This record gives sequence, C-alpha cells and structure tokens, in this order.
Amino acid sequence: MTLYPQLIIDALSTVRYPGTGKNLAEAGMIADNLRIDGMKVSFSLIFEKPTDPFMKSLLKAAEAAIHAQISPEVEVTITTESRQAPRPEPGKLLPQVKNIIGISSGKGGVGKSTVAANLAVALAKLGYRVGLLDADIFGPSVPKMFQVEDARPYSEHIDGRDLIVPIERYGVKLLSIGFFVDPDQATLWRGGMAGNALKQLIGDAAWGELDYFLIDLPPGTSDIHLTIVQTLAMTGVVVVSTPQAVALADARKGINMFTNDKVNVPILGLVENMAWFTPAELPENRYYIFGKEGAKQLAEEMHVPLLGQIPLVQSICESGDKGTPVALNGDSDTGNAFLQFAAAVVRQVDRRNVEQAPTEVVRVQH
Ligand SMILES: Nc1ncnc2c1ncn2[C@@H]1O[C@H](COP(=O)(O)OP(=O)(O)O)[C@@H](O)[C@H]1O
Ligand SMILES: [Mg+2]
Repeated sequence: MTLYPQLIIDALSTVRYPGTGKNLAEAGMIADNLRIDGMKVSFSLIFEKPTDPFMKSLLKAAEAAIHAQISPEVEVTITTESRQAPRPEPGKLLPQVKNIIGISSGKGGVGKSTVAANLAVALAKLGYRVGLLDADIFGPSVPKMFQVEDARPYSEHIDGRDLIVPIERYGVKLLSIGFFVDPDQATLWRGGMAGNALKQLIGDAAWGELDYFLIDLPPGTSDIHLTIVQTLAMTGVVVVSTPQAVALADARKGINMFTNDKVNVPILGLVENMAWFTPAELPENRYYIFGKEGAKQLAEEMHVPLLGQIPLVQSICESGDKGTPVALNGDSDTGNAFLQFAAAVVRQVDRRNVEQAPTEVVRVQH
C-alpha cells in the first residue's frame, strides 16, 4: 500500500472539531507540514489557542480515523501548533499586578463574598487599582453583588493573544465564572474543568496594572485552592470567620492549609464577620448572637492580626442582594467599618512585603 497526502486528508476530513462542528480540513486545522515516509505519517494540527479543551481528544480521534480509514499499520505522529502565543508559565502570570490576595473561609455562608466585594470597593475608594476574581466556581456571587448579572465579557486581541476583558463596576475590574456559565451547569463539571476555567480567568484575561488582585475563594479546602496556589504566587490570604465555634474550627483548618510548609502562603489576618447584631432602630446596641470575639481570640491564639470586625446588620444583607455594596457609602457606620478594614489590609500587606520573602508558586508534583 502507498500512502499519499490526499488519502490522509480525506481520513482527517471524517473528524469533526467539536468547537465548531467543522471537519479538520474545512476548519483549516491541518498544517502544511504533512510528511509521508513509507508507512510513517507526521503532521501538525493547528489550534486557535494553546489551551484548546478539545486538543487531546482530537489528536486521538485523528489517529483513530487514519487507522480506520486507511490502515492500522500507519504510524502516526501528530504535533500541535497554535495561532496564538501561549499563556505565560505559572508564577509569571499577572506581571503587572502588585499584590494578590485570597479571601478565604473555613465554611460557606460566613460572608466571604460580602467581605471580598466590600474590600474591593473600599480599596478602589481609597484610590487603588483593584481586580476581583470570583473563584467560587460552584457558587459565584460577584455578578449579583455588583449588579452585573447580564454582563457578558468580550475578548480583545492583545500582544498576540485573545484576552477576556474584565467587566468594570464601582471602579473594580471583575470576572466570574457566573458571566460564562449557569452555575447549575458548573456543578456538573469534573474537577479539572473548573480548574481550567479558573486558569483562563486568571491567565487569559486583560487584568492590566493592578495594586490589588482579590480572589474570592471557594469555602473550605478544595482542588480549586490547589489550582490557585499552583498558578499564582499569592501575597497573602485574608480569612473570614464568624465568632461561632464551628466556623472558628473550620477557619483554623483553612489557615493551616495555607501555612503548611508545602504551600507557604502568609495569612494577612482574620476578619470577624457578623461579630455582633445591631438592629437599625437601636444603633447603639450590640447583641452577640454568635458568641463574643471568637475570631479575635482565634487571631491571638494563631498569632495573626485581627483586621476588622463587621457587625451583622440588615443593610449589609440588603445591599448585597441589590448589588450595591455598603462600602460605596463611606458615611454609613457599616461602610466605614469596611473602609477601616481595607486600610488595615493595606497596612498589613505593606508590612508583609517588607518583612517576608515573596511567595513562590507551589510546584506541581508529577
Ligand atoms: N455582616 C453581615 N450582615 C448582614 N448580612 C450579611 C453579613 N455578611 C454576610 N451577610 C449575608 O449573609 C449571606 C451569606 O453571605 P456571603 O457573603 O454570600 O457568604 P459566603 O460567600 O461566605 O458564602 C448573604 O445573604 C449576605 O448578604
Ligand atoms: Mg460566596
């Protein structure tokens, strides 16, 4: 049997690229470097992006098609090319970002997203350039908290790559998986898919120059945390907890996850959310419904700063639902509490940058 180029191209024409539904020839994905040497065939497939999600399965399908259509004896070597420049290496992403801060909590519902959103807004009000990434893939809340649920970020060709342009709101650059997929769908994803989506939101987006890049992390400890510390050198983490014992126990676990010697991300401090309840009609009163100063004590015990105490008040909840974070209004007591907290974060980051070495990304073990 004699192999010739058209035979190979015909075989590849039976394979469809799932992204567009076109076959490999139609899609212009077969590079013109096809070589035939006896029963050996080699060529490249051209992908738009170096991170194409269908790459692996397509290489298999192409080889299988040649074997099925021509002969199982054909020795196939396929390499890949991409039209776009590759994403920079882990640890070299976001070169124009000065500080990367994770907002973490041991458990869900303690107000992590509320704290992240208000911290972002408060930092922007203090004059800093701020980005906020919603990394809570399975429970994104940035779209709602910033009233941008209908936003659909577009992409722009920058430095040889197509980059997602973050949505801007209240002076904060925002990206969330919630802009791209229905969260109900995301819950069906395999772990790897969520991690890949997140890497795209970090590495394939036009974040530009930022003083603070905040990441609203998922609650607890998860594969997503692992992906983040393997992708980015985080300056530090702010841990959110309520004063309640169960929340504190989980917060402690969360702290240990970041400070263990494989990960080594500094804890910037704790913030006690829902520290006390103050009814709108009795603004002087404080009711310690989840216990008193639990997070403050945990901070002392673990030798990390307490960066703020945020009361449980109806306005925080309502403004979160309306998509207008209370930190927008610095004149209100609660808005002011978040501004003070933001100032404490700024001081702590400066201090950390003077006293401690830069964080290193966690190397992936093979
Ligand atoms: N300090 C607070 N006062 C009143 N409501 C709050 C406060 N912090 C959070 N909430 C409300 O509690 C709910 C959970 O907060 P959220 O920030 O979504 O938590 P998490 O991100 O930790 O799951 C939301 O409805 C939010 O508006
Ligand atoms: Mg949340």
